[in-house]
Amino acid sequence: MKIAVYPGSFDPVTYGHVDIVERAASIFGKVYVAVIKNPDKKENFDFKTRQKMIKGAVKYLKNVVVEIFDGLLVDYAKKKNASAIIRGLRAVSDFEYEFQMALTNRKMCPDIETIFFMTDYKYAYLSSSMVRQISKLGGSVSGMVPHNVEKELKGG
Ligand code: PNS
Repeated sequence: MKIAVYPGSFDPVTYGHVDIVERAASIFGKVYVAVIKNPDKKENFDFKTRQKMIKGAVKYLKNVVVEIFDGLLVDYAKKKNASAIIRGLRAVSDFEYEFQMALTNRKMCPDIETIFFMTDYKYAYLSSSMVRQISKLGGSVSGMVPHNVEKELKGG
């Protein structure tokens, strides 16, 4: 069985992320969605809440497990026996950062391949930071995040 890890901050998870999880789950036997610390980002939701939100959003996908990990992504992927790291691409602007991250991870762990999935065009504009901003300023994020996340953004 081929195993993949889909890592990210997911702060919070959006429909764009869910779209990538669905694509990965249709190809791999098992997908671990890993909420991992991005040292360059300020955190909003705590790890447990982020995990809960993703779990609620993808509970219909039976081959998906949602976990929290604090450490190097390649260490987590090795622990899970994953052969691939999944990342989503929205636009060319994502490429440089993703390219650097993929090559760095390959340098540390040549056995694990990074695979990119193109997001659905419906979600190409979406980002967690936009969602947070809209929500904080009282706008509607309907259609951008799953219903359980919308509820959490409104205070649970
Ligand atoms: O959703 P994000 O914030 O773009 O995800 C980035 C993430 C969490 C995958 C990345 O920051 C990461 O892998 N963090 C763990 C630390 C690590 O392994 N760093 C080296 C990879 S370049």
